[in-house]
Amino acid sequence: MARTARAAAPVPLLLAAAVAAILLRIAEPRVLLTLHDFGGVGDGVADDTKALADAWAAACAAGDDVILNVPAGKTFQIWPLTLAGPCSSEIKLLISGNIVAPASPSDWGPGDHRQWLHFLNVHDLKVTGGGIIDGRGEQWWAQSSCEEAQPAPKAVHFEDCQGISVMGITLQNSQQYHLTFTRCSHVEANYLRVTSPEDSVNTNGIHLVDSRNVHIMDNLISTGDDCVSIVGNCTDVRLRAISCGPGHGISIGTLGVDNSVDYVEKIKVDTLFISNAENGVRVRTTKNGGGGFARKVKFKSIVMRNVSNPIIVDQGNSDDPEGSFEAQVYAAATAVRVEKINYIDIAGTSASDHAMTFSCSDAMPCRHLSLTNVNLTRVHGRNASSYCRKAYGRSIGTVIPESCLSKEDFVQQAPRHSEEDEEEYSDS
Ligand SMILES: *[C@@H]1O[C@H](CO)[C@@H](O)[C@H](O)[C@H]1NC(C)=O
Ligand SMILES: *[C@@H]1O[C@H](CO)[C@@H](O)[C@H](O)[C@H]1NC(C)=O
Ligand SMILES: *[C@@H]1O[C@H](CO)[C@@H](O)[C@H](O)[C@H]1NC(C)=O
Ligand SMILES: *[C@@H]1O[C@H](CO)[C@@H](O)[C@H](O)[C@H]1NC(C)=O
Repeated sequence: MARTARAAAPVPLLLAAAVAAILLRIAEPRVLLTLHDFGGVGDGVADDTKALADAWAAACAAGDDVILNVPAGKTFQIWPLTLAGPCSSEIKLLISGNIVAPASPSDWGPGDHRQWLHFLNVHDLKVTGGGIIDGRGEQWWAQSSCEEAQPAPKAVHFEDCQGISVMGITLQNSQQYHLTFTRCSHVEANYLRVTSPEDSVNTNGIHLVDSRNVHIMDNLISTGDDCVSIVGNCTDVRLRAISCGPGHGISIGTLGVDNSVDYVEKIKVDTLFISNAENGVRVRTTKNGGGGFARKVKFKSIVMRNVSNPIIVDQGNSDDPEGSFEAQVYAAATAVRVEKINYIDIAGTSASDHAMTFSCSDAMPCRHLSLTNVNLTRVHGRNASSYCRKAYGRSIGTVIPESCLSKEDFVQQAPRHSEEDEEEYSDS
């Protein structure tokens, strides 16, 4: 018995230590700041830019974890602003109220209008709180067709950031892209509502540039342009449980623009509902020029409803009949390689005849495309069709409409892919 008692003795000690640790954690200083502390008015009319800038500066300099609150029931009008890091410790930006942009482009005044709320060089930031960020982009969209008009700003732009979580807020009516990450890593964008009218211009939902380790999940995105777009050197991106539409669907690309060399790989997209959209899942490159690749991409468990191009790879050649003068001219050109794209369990309706389009280039035919259990019919129940140009791959299980992919020409292929690559290709 004594032995048991001795063994049991440390338990209360451990418990005490655990309780002490919890108390210490609670007692750990946390700074709570609100925009009101910095002169924020929040009536939707006043200029609260300085209040936010000052609050950010205080939060960023604080040695302890900070909660910076944008209070509920208030609307803060903010002019373009850069919130820069690195900061001393983790910041939680709790947006419970509304943040709005000046409605008229002429109110923006001189200066840099490429973005509205710009987070630069920030690490370990959580943005949450249930509030609304409203770009009030209507006048920017209206002037976008003018020749001289400057490009509209990106609404919320994270640049050179790490450890960012944007969760549980609404982003709406962005002047241009709603939420952009450029050269960021370890990003989460979850439980977001992103909305703007179907006819708004360039209002992509979430836009990734040169970023890695990004998780985008449980979002409702309904905009005038791409739901989620991925360009530049992006890798390890996971999209899951997203409702898209109206808008232009999921887009990898356009890659190779202005001769850029883009390496996009390890992109996993699953459990999506895409409705009333121009595209479902698209991989797009420039017609010629540029380099790099889009590869190791998996699109899985996707339901389409009334989508014009449910599955599309577009290397800009769909207008050229094979063997045409143009096709021959471009045959020697460089291009972005598209390979190892897997489509698994994709069903629903196409608004156009071409439910599947693989329009690849002479310079760089698409290789190792794989279709597994695809069932796409036309909206009114008729059979859809598929279109292929220079597209190689295979189909597994039931594929409707029938696949038009050519069998891989292994003879022409050099060097042979490794076993590891084969595994990725057959990844299921
Ligand atoms: C992408 O990566 C390649 C190779 O590392 C590099 O040459 C290229 O400049 C990168 N592109 C960008 C936009 O950073
Ligand atoms: C199909 O989607 C288009 C937009 O792409 C929309 O205008 C049209 O009303 C939709 N049709 C149905 C039947 O929902
Ligand atoms: C394909 O989808 C259509 C329409 O949703 C459905 O009627 C049909 O049974 C499906 N076919 C297969 C093989 O699942
Ligand atoms: C439509 O597709 C189904 C399944 O692939 C096929 O059995 C049927 O013959 C096709 N109907 C027409 C009119 O082509």
